[in-house]
Amino acid sequence: MNNSFLRFLMLLMVCAGTLPALGCGGEATSQAEASKPPMAAESSGISPKQFANAVYAVMKADRTVYAKHVVTRLKKAESETKPSEYWEDEEGTIPLPAQMFRMGAELVDENPTAGFTYGLRSKWPLNDQHHAKSDTEAEGLDFIEKNPGETFYGTETLGDKKFFTAIYGDKAVAQACWECHNEHPNRGDDYPEFKKDDVMGGVVVRIPLN
Ligand code: HEC
Repeated sequence: MNNSFLRFLMLLMVCAGTLPALGCGGEATSQAEASKPPMAAESSGISPKQFANAVYAVMKADRTVYAKHVVTRLKKAESETKPSEYWEDEEGTIPLPAQMFRMGAELVDENPTAGFTYGLRSKWPLNDQHHAKSDTEAEGLDFIEKNPGETFYGTETLGDKKFFTAIYGDKAVAQACWECHNEHPNRGDDYPEFKKDDVMGGVVVRIPLN
């Protein structure tokens, strides 16, 4: 690990732990806008948008590495161990990338020092837990569907708390994505016939604002 990567990791950890107390953030955007590279951190700390972009980059990288170097590798290999949605009941199988992602999100949810939450969402979820959970999430899923490749950024008030909410599109990048989803028994009557590069859902990152 080089020094700048270590510094970046420390910044992420400090921010995740102290965000609600110290307010790592600055002003949040109130409307959807195109995804732009983060601006240089200001002296007051990183903004909620920069924080969301940073943690999303780590989530995306981990998911890609797991899918590419674990799941695909095992599928091709002569190994007994295979990825399966039913890994809990089937001996010698491992979880799908979306399940890994959800289980990680559930652990972060339970962690009081994490300082933020995240999760997968879709307008057409295979897992019922992945429906939009707020009006802003529903608006964000519409936005990323109509603007593939762009990110939705907004603020919302839930209960008496204000949040910065970012939604990153999740695209059908590999044949396995649409094949598995289009043939899945959980698909509802309105389920689309997904094809290459369709936005199948999104990743929500929600950060409390002071
Ligand atoms: C082998 C089957 C399979 C493959 C391949 C697969 N998925 Fe999924 N996907 C699932 C299942 C099952 C869930 C629900 C997982 C859970 O939370 O238990 C899911 C969940 C999701 C969700 C959250 C919404 C929902 O449907 O619950 C998105 C978005 C998603 N997948 C996108 C993708 C993308 C993009 C790819 C390709 C990179 C992909 N999936 C590959 C089976 C698959």
